[in-house]
Amino acid sequence: MVLDTTQRNRRMTHFDDHEAIWLFGYGSLIWKAGFAYLERRPAHIHGWVRRFWQGSHDHRGTPEAPGRVATLLPRPGAVCHGMAYRITPETLRPLDVREKNGYLREITTLHFADGDTAQGLTYIATEDNAAFLGEAEPAAMARQIAEAHGPSGPNSDYLLHLADALDALGVADPHVADLARRVRAHSPTDDRPQAR
Ligand code: SIN
Repeated sequence: MVLDTTQRNRRMTHFDDHEAIWLFGYGSLIWKAGFAYLERRPAHIHGWVRRFWQGSHDHRGTPEAPGRVATLLPRPGAVCHGMAYRITPETLRPLDVREKNGYLREITTLHFADGDTAQGLTYIATEDNAAFLGEAEPAAMARQIAEAHGPSGPNSDYLLHLADALDALGVADPHVADLARRVRAHSPTDDRPQAR
């Protein structure tokens, strides 16, 4: 599976002249930043739902046995809750590499709990990318997540850390909660190393 969106993202220069950029994270970027930031605030965006429909051939699976990670799908009226980071533009360079398996920078409006809004970026893996897996039966998605393992560790770590982080934020996400329940039942161990 050859897919690398790094250069496409680097051609996206929309915020290059800004001193700082808001980045919205909804997957591993909620619970594992792994980069320096100026500020971190819970936030939400409108019109998107979180789904474990993106393949991970590089972090949480392999080209032969990809894992499943989160992406966003357009859904009018939906709200997706996550974490916003105020970062310098240079911080996007390593993030473009981390998110290279199909994710593209997308400009979006971030909404904060106090009613403030800001223009920012989020990384979205759209349905036309080569690593997109799409929907499957919940039991099949959970089995794939429970079994996949990649250079960053078990796929189940990604899901269960995200489920815990959403709980801590007080965010109800039935899709993530259902997959987490199924994966915990499949593999009862809670021994999770920190990785993307
Ligand atoms: C994100 O977390 O915002 C993007 C997807 C990921 O890195 O898990």
